[in-house]
Amino acid sequence: MNTALHPLDVEKIRTEFPILQQEVHGKPLVYLDNAATSQKPIVVIDAIQDYYLKYNSNVHRGVHRLSQLASDAYEETRETIRQFLNASSLQEIIFTKGTTDGINLLAASIGRGMIKPGDEIIISAMEHHSNIVPWQMMCEDRGAKLRVIPINDDGEILFEAYEEMLNERTKLVSIVHTSNSLGTVNPLREIIDLAHSKNIPVLVDGAQAVPHTKVDVQALDCDFFVFSSHKVFGPTGVGVLYGKKEWLKKLPPYQGGGDMILHVTFEKTKFNELPYKFEAGTPNIADVIGLGVALQYVQKIGYDAISEWENDLIQYALHRLQEIEGMRFVGNAKHRAGAISFVLGDIHPHDVGTILDREGVAVRTGHHCTQPVMQRFKVPATTRASFAFYNTKEEIDQLMNALHKVIEMFA
Ligand code: ALA
Repeated sequence: MNTALHPLDVEKIRTEFPILQQEVHGKPLVYLDNAATSQKPIVVIDAIQDYYLKYNSNVHRGVHRLSQLASDAYEETRETIRQFLNASSLQEIIFTKGTTDGINLLAASIGRGMIKPGDEIIISAMEHHSNIVPWQMMCEDRGAKLRVIPINDDGEILFEAYEEMLNERTKLVSIVHTSNSLGTVNPLREIIDLAHSKNIPVLVDGAQAVPHTKVDVQALDCDFFVFSSHKVFGPTGVGVLYGKKEWLKKLPPYQGGGDMILHVTFEKTKFNELPYKFEAGTPNIADVIGLGVALQYVQKIGYDAISEWENDLIQYALHRLQEIEGMRFVGNAKHRAGAISFVLGDIHPHDVGTILDREGVAVRTGHHCTQPVMQRFKVPATTRASFAFYNTKEEIDQLMNALHKVIEMFA
């Protein structure tokens, strides 16, 4: 397509990410490791600095001016996130440390609140370790069973197998929106509708979705949704758990401590209202504020422009990568976003990654925290190029040149 007519002004956007201006090993940095973590626009860095320079203070605890400024900024971010996800209430937005923390919160809380021996939790074969291990630990603890929806050779879930798995013992379906290692975008509406037809709640791991696509939790009708700030151009160490109010009200708190209580005696504690019931202790105030600014930044660019640009990039990258002899894609889903995983002949991905790095190209190599996906596709590891809206086709050409160097070295 004619990029001159494109609504996304990538050259201007790139100037807003200072880190992208540098050279690595004497070559212009080509950052294609966005699924591991995204880069931060200057407005986010400024907002965090501003908090520490001007109003660093604890939230919900002080009547003094600085504490009120910090509390206001913290709670305004909750409203930014409510709007970002189109949640119906502020009570449904819980700040966490990230996606992993959100899933651990739910696994602990659901486990304690509603799981009995013999109950079942369903996940898929393309889950990140963070959507496997917390459920495994909880199932072991409660005598429950973890069941796994298989995937086909393209990396898409087998819907009929999923349908057959749902039964009266199923207590939750926990599924990834967009796979970090395969790039698959799951048919969430169908998955959720089917679970709901049997009164089973659904948790969506949205970590790799929110950098690329608009998420509307009411339209999806998911019961829980988690994501991380650092994948969506915000700082590390903070994330969000969305939960439908009726579920969050029913579930017991995860951690005890300050802020999550209304009244404490040595005999009994009365827990705080939502959302504070799930936010024990001093939160990561600066980074919550940074996340709010990051989400506003993304919304200003607009998801229509982002999706269109990134689709173009991915199609171009797939097309160019196919030129290489011995190229094997791991994951060929019809609906995909964010990442392309591949194996290059019998060259080990770590060798590929190391040589690419010398050419200034940053990719991730390894199992991408999805060892069962590697087992499914019978590879020890893959090379993964993952994209953000600030990437360009010229950078994909630089990736191609660097891959040709890899091939030359191993010829
Ligand atoms: N989950 C991150 C990744 O996919 C770390 O690289």
